[in-house]
This record gives sequence, structure tokens and C-alpha cells, in this order.
Amino acid sequence: MTQEIAIVGLGYVGLPLALQFGRSGVKVLGLDIDSAKVKALNEGLSYIKHIRASDVSEMVNSRSFAASTDFSRVAGVQAVIICVPTPLNKNREPDISYILQTGKAIAPHLLKGTLVVLESTTYPGTTDEDLRAVLEAGSGLKAGVDFHLAFSPEREDPGNPDSKVALIPKVVGGYSPACLKRATELYGRGIKNIIPVSSCRVAEATKLLENIFRSVNIALVNELKIVYGAMGIDVWEVIRAAKTKPFGFMPFYPGPGLGGHCIPIDPFYLTWKAREYGRHTRFIELAGEISSAMPDFVVQQVMEALNNLGKSMKGSKILVLGLAYKPDVDDDRESPSYVLMDLLEKRGAHVSYYDPYVPVVRPNREHPHRAGTRSISWDQSVVQTFDAVLIATNHKAVNYQELADWASCIIDSRNAMAEIKTRPGQVWKA
Ligand SMILES: NC(=O)c1ccc[n+]([C@@H]2O[C@H](COP(=O)([O-])OP(=O)(O)OC[C@H]3O[C@@H](n4cnc5c(N)ncnc54)[C@H](O)[C@@H]3O)[C@@H](O)[C@H]2O)c1
Repeated sequence: MTQEIAIVGLGYVGLPLALQFGRSGVKVLGLDIDSAKVKALNEGLSYIKHIRASDVSEMVNSRSFAASTDFSRVAGVQAVIICVPTPLNKNREPDISYILQTGKAIAPHLLKGTLVVLESTTYPGTTDEDLRAVLEAGSGLKAGVDFHLAFSPEREDPGNPDSKVALIPKVVGGYSPACLKRATELYGRGIKNIIPVSSCRVAEATKLLENIFRSVNIALVNELKIVYGAMGIDVWEVIRAAKTKPFGFMPFYPGPGLGGHCIPIDPFYLTWKAREYGRHTRFIELAGEISSAMPDFVVQQVMEALNNLGKSMKGSKILVLGLAYKPDVDDDRESPSYVLMDLLEKRGAHVSYYDPYVPVVRPNREHPHRAGTRSISWDQSVVQTFDAVLIATNHKAVNYQELADWASCIIDSRNAMAEIKTRPGQVWKA
């Protein structure tokens, strides 16, 4: 029976998983290369908005959880779960270097019988080809013979208070039947419903299907928003009506563009891998094309709204409301708000932002020039100085009635103003 595990990568995926295992009586060693995160966790602090510091300190105080940057401690655990980033490089190709670095760091300390599970979203073949190769080379052990290897995708839904790690069914694929058995046993300790599949590749492909499904459907409603908008039909009203169908329909909502660490990125892992097989992923490409054109459409709407007031974009003051990529989270990775800000500034606007969850822009790879920029304060005297407010993220914590009372012109890309009392001509849907 597994007594102690290591979780590598203590971010949005790794940290909640660590806490869940800790709660289930499995001792967890959290490993990360970011010493600031390690220090914070050992002091019982949380750096993720929806994870309570008290949950972390409880685990630390009960000695169920400790964090470290020392990868040699892998020698003392029975299983290692890898939850490191899988971004795209600047040519929009998969960057699995974080996975490979982790494999290299843990391999020399891997003991016979240890289970290694990859959770990072990636293309089929990563676990049994790429990761297996570095683990075997660095340890001198053989996967499926000396150590166990598996893939199990994460299904985290940040910002959704009803989403509990323990209750979300967990897909698991093993490198061999024995690997699958070990991985199923491990996850069974902390998660209620385990869905075994026949291989690591099927598990990797399952996660990609889930994200591609979202990407394609979001692109579809984004396209319909423009088409219906031209016909004078409100797509939000259409979706509200369509979702009353009790079967065969699932609502997706339009927005100012794709954001987050998953949907704009993961589908292209498959696109890249498919080329090796001489295949094309046309749905994925088309969905990416439609959704990545959304910020241009939204900025066009801002321009029209200003024009209607006899103002030009050049020289205007615009407030972007919401920097996080989705409501009620503090995660601004790949957020379309940054694209919107760049496009607005390119057209001569002076841009500020308001986000209660992102008081200051952290240092980041994609938009280094924004690092250190601060959110405006939510104050009538400040908000009313803007020529237009563009709603990019519909955080529940924002008082939209105050916005309607204070702002002269609102461009709403999230239908946040639907239930709010506004003045005629004040709100433009985008
Ligand atoms: N965030 C989500 O909602 C979500 C959902 C499902 C799947 N995923 C997938 O899970 C994976 C992790 O995503 P995340 O959102 O948790 O990322 P994250 O950036 O929040 O966390 C990753 C952590 O890994 C650490 N790290 C980076 N390189 C490392 C290394 N070589 N060794 C040890 N630690 C290292 C970072 O310091 C960071 O703490 C990605 O593949 C992502 O696609 C994310």
C-alpha cells in the first residue's frame, strides 16, 4: 500500500491534488523548482486564490504535507506524480521540456517498484516514448519491469466551487496491466471513481478530446455571435433558449477570445503530433482561427461604440474590466484581455484595467511589458473618467449596477450587463 508520494509541480493542478491525497491519509512530498512557492507552502500559505491557506497549514501542521526543492527525496517515496506546465513554444509547437527536465531530475533517485504518473496535458506518446526514455536512461531501470509508469489527466475546474478533486472521475492508463493496477490503487486512495483505460496513449488522447471539444464548441458560438449579431439576434438569448432542450445540447458561451493554460494550447499538441502520421486536424485549426480573431471583432465594437458618441479611439481612455481569463479566478495566463489591451493601444487608446483578483500584473513570459501594471481602484471618481469600459471577464465580485451608474459607455463581451438597469444606448454587446 502506498504510504508516501511526491507531487512534482505545485501549481493549479499539483497543489489541490496534494491536498486531496493528504486528506486521504497519504503523506505527500511536494516538489517544485520555485523556491518561493516551496517556502510559502511550508509556512502554511497559499498562492492560489481558491485554495485556502488554512487547508495548506492544516496539512503542514499534521505532517501530511511538506514541500521541497530537493529532488533526491524521490528515493523515499513509493509514487511520483508529475504536474508541470506543457506550453507551446514561440512557433506554437509543443514544449515538453518541463516534463523531460522533471524526468531527468527524478530518474537518478528512482528505486525499483516506484510508480511514476504523468498528469500534464500532452500528445499521445509522451509518457511511453519521451518520458519513459529519460526515466530509463537516468535510472538504469526498465519501465513495466523495474518501475511502474502511467498517465492520468487532470480535470481541474478552477473557480468552480462545486468542483471537488475527490468527486471528479479520474481516467488512468498504464504502460502495462501491472502499471495500471498500481496507478488505479494509488488514485483510489483519494478519488472516488477511477476510469481505467487500455494504455497511456488512450488516457492522453482522452484529455485532448475533452479540450478540443470545448475549443470547437466555443469557436462555434463565437461565430454564431457575429452571424446572429448581424441579423439583430442576441446569441445569448438564443443559447438561453436552446439549453432548455433536455437532450443533445450543451451550452457554450461566446467571449472576447480564448484564454487559460488549456483550451488555446492543448489542441495544438495533437495538431503537431498528427503531422507525424501525415494527418491534418482541420477542426482544431478552424476553431483556433475563429476564436483568435475574436479580440479584433471586440475592438471593432469598441471603435463603433466610441464613434457613436462622436469620439475616436485615438486618444480615448478605455478601461478593460477583468484581466483573468475566466470569471472568479486570479489566473491571467493566455488571457485575451492582454490581446485586447495591446490592440486598443495600437489604435492610440490609453488603456487601464480593473481586476479585483489581479491587483498587479505578475512577471510573465507572454506580456513582460505589462509586469508591474496595477489595477485601478473601484471608485466612481476613477471609473467615470473613462470614455468606455470593455467587459472582458465577468467576475461575480464586480458590482455591475455601480458600473452602469458610473460609466458612460460599456462594451460587454460576456453578457454581464444582461440583468442590470442601464440607460438606452449605454451598453454595446460585443
Ligand atoms: N490549470 C488547469 O486548470 C489545468 C487543468 C487540466 C490540466 N492542466 C495541465 O496540468 C499541467 C500543469 O498545469 P498547472 O495549471 O498546474 O500549471 P502551473 O504553472 O500552475 O504549475 C506548474 C508548477 O510546476 C512548476 N515547475 C515547472 N517546471 C518544473 C520542473 N522542471 N520541476 C518541478 N516543478 C516545475 C512550476 O514552478 C509551477 O509551480 C499542464 O500540463 C496543464 O495543461 C491544467
